[in-house]
Amino acid sequence: MREPYTTTTVYFQVDPQVPERRPIELAGETIRDGGLVAFPTETVYGLGANALDKAAVEKIFRAKGRPANDPLIVHIADLSHLPRLAVSVPELAYRLLDRFAPGALTLVLNKRETVPANLTAGMDTVAVRIPDHAVALALINAAGRPIAAPSANKFSRPSPTTAQHVVDDLEGRVDIILDGGPTAIGLESTILSLVGGAPQVLRPGGVALEELRAIVPDLTYQPRYLTGDDTASPSPGSMLKHYSPRATVILFRGEDDVAVWAAIKAFADDHDHVGVMTLEKDVRRFADLDVKVESLGADLDAAATRLFSALRALDSRGAKWILARAPDTTGVGLAIGDRLLRAAEGDVIDVKPRR
Ligand code: TXA
Ligand code: MG
Repeated sequence: MREPYTTTTVYFQVDPQVPERRPIELAGETIRDGGLVAFPTETVYGLGANALDKAAVEKIFRAKGRPANDPLIVHIADLSHLPRLAVSVPELAYRLLDRFAPGALTLVLNKRETVPANLTAGMDTVAVRIPDHAVALALINAAGRPIAAPSANKFSRPSPTTAQHVVDDLEGRVDIILDGGPTAIGLESTILSLVGGAPQVLRPGGVALEELRAIVPDLTYQPRYLTGDDTASPSPGSMLKHYSPRATVILFRGEDDVAVWAAIKAFADDHDHVGVMTLEKDVRRFADLDVKVESLGADLDAAATRLFSALRALDSRGAKWILARAPDTTGVGLAIGDRLLRAAEGDVIDVKPRR
């Protein structure tokens, strides 16, 4: 077993639009020196290290307790950095980046041999994205290096959407935390593989499949969830158990509104310490029950930003059960449903329509 990485954590609040120079320079120097910096992106907070330094990359795995078969995403500030990481980049990659970069789209490409093997979990491909956040871009530029960064949570915990989530999981395991406020999208990037055959979505995320199809009509997405170690998978990180709060999450799925809400309320009635996450419009349904409710806001975009913090909030409110309804799979609903299913570790109740 690897030793966990331990250090003294220094915390800086930074302006998310116009980050102050001193903390950014210090953080850039820390990256160059082989240290770890947690920073905001538009999706979730990342735990960053110099992507081209094998020992620095190893610290990420040690800090998170992340299995070595789960590769990292590399963050760059602009297209000029791409040739330092990838080879035989198809023309389609540039068309996609032209439309979606900076933004929540990660591309899987053939890696350059200088990219350390531990970063890619031994594979000959590398995942790359350009984050749409002034702090992330300033940090990459100050470091003068591409930055490897998974989400800045402990392994299998919900991804962090605030600096406080990072503190809760990684205090003492990261050299610097840059606090740029809550993240705008709240879910991780969409991962699209452009190697080996037709373009394949490996993880739904901040960029909707409908948007990608406008440029890549033949893209495929086949949800695959792994229950154990499986390095043969195209996306070894797509383990089913992920995003797990301490409470047991149960997902309710069904078309019939009345039947689904009746099933959720019946479960809540039968159990103690029940938490529910739901859109604001449905909060009132639980007014007469002894249930801890976290509102996910007005619509699915709001729900994406609140999903992970709601899981953490219900944990700290002492919920033993967390109930949620599976959303429609259009737009960002597809990514929300994916995260919920993994938080539930596949525990889904299919509610039959009433007749
Ligand atoms: O929005 C995001 O993508 C955030 C922010 C920090 O950028 N990052 C993030 O990283 O979600 P992480 O480590 O939590 O998820 C990265 C996933 C891995 O679990 C793996 O499934 C996939 O990216 N991945 C990385 N490299 C890959 C590769 N070469 N081939 C296939 N999948 C890869
Ligand atoms: Mg993650």
